[in-house]
Order: sequence, then C-alpha cells, then structure tokens
Amino acid sequence: MTAVGRPRRSCLAVPGSSVKMLGKAQGLPADQVFLDLEDAVAPLAKPDARKNIVAALNEGDWTGKTRVVRVNDLTTPWTYRDVIEVVEGAGANLDCIMLPKVQNAEQVHWLDLLLTQIERTLGLEVGRIGIEAQIENAAGLVNVDAIAGASPRVETIIFGPADFMASINMKSLVVGALIPDYPGDPYHYILMRILMAARMHDKQAIDGPFLQIRDVDAFREVAKRSAALGFDGKWVLHPGQIDAANEVYSPAQADYDHAELILDAYDYYTSEAGGKLGAVMLGDEMIDEASRKMALVIAAKGRAAGM
Ligand code: GLV
Ligand code: MG
Repeated sequence: MTAVGRPRRSCLAVPGSSVKMLGKAQGLPADQVFLDLEDAVAPLAKPDARKNIVAALNEGDWTGKTRVVRVNDLTTPWTYRDVIEVVEGAGANLDCIMLPKVQNAEQVHWLDLLLTQIERTLGLEVGRIGIEAQIENAAGLVNVDAIAGASPRVETIIFGPADFMASINMKSLVVGALIPDYPGDPYHYILMRILMAARMHDKQAIDGPFLQIRDVDAFREVAKRSAALGFDGKWVLHPGQIDAANEVYSPAQADYDHAELILDAYDYYTSEAGGKLGAVMLGDEMIDEASRKMALVIAAKGRAAGM
C-alpha cells in the first residue's frame, strides 16, 4: 500500500505557549504544523497554551497546511482536558490530534471515542478529525501493528527518536545521528518496523525531530535515510529545516520524470497490444506491472509535491 495522503514532507513543531511562533508559523512553507501542548510547553504554561492554540486555529490563516495539535500523553493528568478544550474550541478548524508516547491500541480507542463524543455533541462531521500516533518507547513499537490498525482515524505513525532513545537507554545524546560505536544504522530496525505497520494499514510514516537545528546538512543526511526507505516526511523544529525536508521527501526531478515516462509507456504499449502484453520495453528497461506500481508511487509523490 502506498499511503499517499495529505502532504506531510515537513511537519513543523510550534510551541503552544508562544503566541509569536503561532503567528509566524502561518507564513512558513511547511506542509503540516503541529501546535504543541506536550514537551515544548512547561506544566504551568499548559492552560494558557490551550487557549493560545484555540485562538490561533480559529483566527489564523493556515491555508495549505495540515493543522495538528499534539496533546499530552495518557500517563499525565492533562490529556482529556487538552482534547476537550482544543476540539470543543476549534474542532472545525483542526485536522488531527497527535497522541504522543502511544503504548497500545486501547489508548487510540480512548481518543477515538472521546473525539466521536465531542464531534456528536458539537454537530461536527463524525470521524473527520484524524489521529497521529507517536511511537516513543518499547511498548509502542512492539504494539505498533495494533496501534496503526486501531481506528480509521489514524493517519500517521510517527517515530519519536528522543523519547525512544531515552526509553531504551540508548548510549547517545545526538537524536537521529549515527553512533560511532555501532557499525550500522541503529535506527534501521525501528524505522522499518514503523514503516511496515504503517503500510500494512495504509497509513503515512513520519520521521521525528533532529535537534541540531543549525546544522541543516546533518538534518539532510538523517532525513535522507528515512526518505530512502519510503517515509513520507519528517518533523522540522526550525524554519531553516523546512526547505530541506520538502526537498528530501519529494522525488528527485529525474526520478519523477522517469516515473511519468514509465507510466505513459506502459499504458501506451499495453493498450496497443489490446491488453495482451504483460511486460514492455522502454529503451533498455523492461517494465511490467510491478515496475508500473513503483512508478506510480514516485509519480504520486511528485504530483503531490506539485512537480
Ligand atoms: C519527539 O517527540 C521525540 O521524542 O523525539
Ligand atoms: Mg517525544
């Protein structure tokens, strides 16, 4: 499954406690914004942050962006009030709720039911608000298949590398970067595990943050690894990372052009043959149904990116 949904190449984190950043984010070229009530917001600032977020969603101009709010995780006392205040206050101007540190499918069921109750009460379309599930600990990763399939509202599975590294006692402080003592990519298994669960349920897979925000080249290197596997996008913590993410998670122009050529050639030759040809030649390259599907993925990503 290809899971080409809303564009999410760049998912910009915006602290709900900063009215200034909530304003500035509206003019930035990120595909998605997520207005944060969790780790970017201090406990005492959370009540005001909820109000700032509701106001920004209702009064701001978020045209062209997917609007997401990250609530606090279910081990805290804040989650239910986060969801109720934000969805009651701005449910019509909100696309998804992001649930961090998801550990099992039941936590997604809880959010699904709460959203349904609020939508019904407010007369909103039931089921329109999606869920983004962040995988940030061993329980979440072990249960990721069930989490991805827990509700039709789930749109993305997100890798949260900082919390994940802490939760499994990883011996590194540089989030997402390779570890010199480890001969390989220490994130490969986690990324692939998330990607398989996401694709099994036709969801998008999103890579998490890179904290060295001034080192855009290093951001690009980390992003390229998950993009190569098939991830749909990555978090950006700073405006300087947005263009790099939009570029890395779009196909290269040459690949996009080639994909469109494959699709045209395959359609042309197979219809010429009255549907009796399974494989055709494009120059020196043999194209069959599987190569057509590969080309479809690249073409869809490129079209979504406006290529
Ligand atoms: C994001 O939430 C992370 O923990 O990396
Ligand atoms: Mg986290």
